Amino acid sequence: MTLDLNLSGGEATRPYDPVVLGIESTAHTFGVGIATTSQVLACVDSTYQPKTGGIHPREAAEHHSRVAGRVLTEALERAGLGLKDVEAIAVALGPGMGPCLRVGATLARYLAVKYSKPLVPVNHAVAHVEIARFSTGFKDPLVIYIAGGNTIITTFVEGRYRIFGETLDIPLGNCLDSFAREVGLGFPGTPKVEELAQRGEKLLELPYVVKGQDLQFSGLLTKALRLVKEGERLEDVCYSLVETAYSMLVEVAERALSLTGKREVTLTGGVARSRILSEKLDKMAKLHSSVFKPVDPRYAGDNGAMIAYTGALAYSSGVTLSVEESRVKPLWRLDQVDVPWRSG
Ligand SMILES: Nc1ncnc2c1ncn2[C@@H]1O[C@H](COP(=O)(O)OP(=O)(O)O)[C@@H](O)[C@H]1O
Ligand SMILES: [Mg+2]
Repeated sequence: MTLDLNLSGGEATRPYDPVVLGIESTAHTFGVGIATTSQVLACVDSTYQPKTGGIHPREAAEHHSRVAGRVLTEALERAGLGLKDVEAIAVALGPGMGPCLRVGATLARYLAVKYSKPLVPVNHAVAHVEIARFSTGFKDPLVIYIAGGNTIITTFVEGRYRIFGETLDIPLGNCLDSFAREVGLGFPGTPKVEELAQRGEKLLELPYVVKGQDLQFSGLLTKALRLVKEGERLEDVCYSLVETAYSMLVEVAERALSLTGKREVTLTGGVARSRILSEKLDKMAKLHSSVFKPVDPRYAGDNGAMIAYTGALAYSSGVTLSVEESRVKPLWRLDQVDVPWRSG
């Protein structure tokens, strides 16, 4: 007797897992990802590098328009798929810079109309959280989301990601990027500041501003720049800046962990590639008998895969949007988004 091991019946009973194409364009990166709720099939990104200063929204948007066609084609090629194989088009509608967001939204609407695909709205911050859960395998972590544009401590409570601390002025990544730019270290600033910090010897006093569960970094930035002008060693200033800023963050994260009683802690967003911050969070988590693991570095910065993956989760829970409703939302907060894929 021979057994037929090519079980086509087995295939049919596999849970439904739609292929979703996701578009990221909220700030400096234009990315296209292709994913299902269980795997990333492609992730292609192109990042705009300002010649001088910070991100200029119009110039970044021009970059996105220029690279969009190539990035889209490359993502489909890497996944070995055509648009006909994609079931829905997900797009990050916010938060972010208006001109940049509109490039992604326009491409998404075009693809949705031309190929008759449903459109799926994705919040960029929720996507950073979801890709961290996906890459760590954590089910219900406390999430520390640190990037150039965001500093948020969040976890899932009753249908939404609730905020347990955030910056009241500039984000942590922006503080380190601005400092690096002003002292001529270039972009991205965080790894460059950290590199010098490792050679620092003297801890200088800088403003440590924690207000309840919220944080402020602009006073820290101003004082650090003043200390450089006054002749302090750059390595010492970098060391003091990193120690102060990360300690503020860990203090707030620790209280959030005690309050929520979560057993897992993850770090996501561009600054999740920081080894120094990861070490501090790892120690803090262990003190509370929790496990710490940062997001996979490939998915730390802005990327298309996180939009595709979150889009797949949302689409599988029935979240879609008509083209008419698909306005960009530059100020769309993480805690305004319903998360039906976790509520069930
Ligand atoms: N190797 C690294 N280590 C730590 N931080 C990094 C590293 N590379 C980039 N970053 C930081 O990541 C931030 C950008 O995060 P990202 O999520 O890509 O963008 P955005 O904040 O615009 O969404 C910047 O502040 C940058 O300094
Ligand atoms: Mg981001």
